[in-house]
Amino acid sequence: MVEIKDSIKDKKINYVKRELNSKGQRIIQLDRNENTIGCSEAAMEYVAEHLDHISIYTDIFASPLREKLAAIHGVETGQILVGNGSFELISLISQIFINSGDEVIYPNPSFEWYKTSGNLAGAAVIDVPLEEHKVSLKEIEKRITDKTKIIWICNPNNPTGTLIEEEELKSFLDRVPNNILIVVDEAYIDFVREHRKPNLIAELPLYKNLILLRTFSKVYGLASLRVGYAIAHEEIINQIVPYKIPPNTNRLGILAAEKSLDDEAFYNYIVEYIKKQAGVFYEAFEELGLSYIPSDTNFIFFNLNQDSEPVVKALAEKGILVRGGSEYNYPQWIRVTIGTEEENNSFLSALKGILLSGN
Ligand SMILES: Cc1ncc(COP(=O)(O)O)c(C=O)c1O
Repeated sequence: MVEIKDSIKDKKINYVKRELNSKGQRIIQLDRNENTIGCSEAAMEYVAEHLDHISIYTDIFASPLREKLAAIHGVETGQILVGNGSFELISLISQIFINSGDEVIYPNPSFEWYKTSGNLAGAAVIDVPLEEHKVSLKEIEKRITDKTKIIWICNPNNPTGTLIEEEELKSFLDRVPNNILIVVDEAYIDFVREHRKPNLIAELPLYKNLILLRTFSKVYGLASLRVGYAIAHEEIINQIVPYKIPPNTNRLGILAAEKSLDDEAFYNYIVEYIKKQAGVFYEAFEELGLSYIPSDTNFIFFNLNQDSEPVVKALAEKGILVRGGSEYNYPQWIRVTIGTEEENNSFLSALKGILLSGN
């Protein structure tokens, strides 16, 4: 057996078979922060109309989408890079900027792919614990050395749902040396209330070491069509472009993304729906005497005050998937995605049953 490289040996994947559980029930999937409500109908129709175009590769820049995103964000087209979801962009950024032995810093717990992609690229990955469940830029700053190459910030953070506010981010950007790349993953930014929403796009002209990541997988509900994008100074995008897989995106995803951008009513509906449903969770948690972190996202991290794994398993037996906190080193916590009203009610009543009467 040929050994894989040492830096990535310890990774295990937690594969969960989907669709039906062992009793043949349909599974409620509240473990991956998807938009289970769906996607824009106009986008679906548009995709259906273009099925006969799938024999042709996409434009390597997904140009019409790129142009549309640039216009929406008020940046140049060359400042946008469309990827096969943010996952791809995270991997690509790691591959392109990390030399073996470089250090990358990420808050822990946060989105695990920052670590995996850093390990794959040969970096020493430094994780910085959260402070009171929040990403601490001060602690991250303390860990900067002359080997630091990338700092990953997930804002709002997955799994805690917490937000770093704009002023704090801006002063961090000012203090970090400009030979360190700062990547702010804004996968869940659409769920942040308008008055709190950080606007780092306005900072891009000032920082040639800042990349913002966005995705169509969350609020737009296009997770399986794999579309994400980076926004950065044109010079950074130009550094990345020659090394991306040329046809990295798929036509149907790009068309769906383009059409979704026109469907403001759908976007607003989802944002409002999630906010309203978050309130239902908070109320239920309070009734059950469980603490939770108020969330700026479409998921909630809450504390069971007991080992959460048996509860995660009991929920799975009832056909409801949630994410146990042990993989985040929060063994008493659970991360639950805010789904449809019906799914949320099923989850909450199953949780109550398990906690109050043991079934
Ligand atoms: C913080 C964060 N970034 C990126 C992703 C992946 O996004 P995409 O579907 O665009 O690859 C996720 C998915 O859950 C996420 O939580």
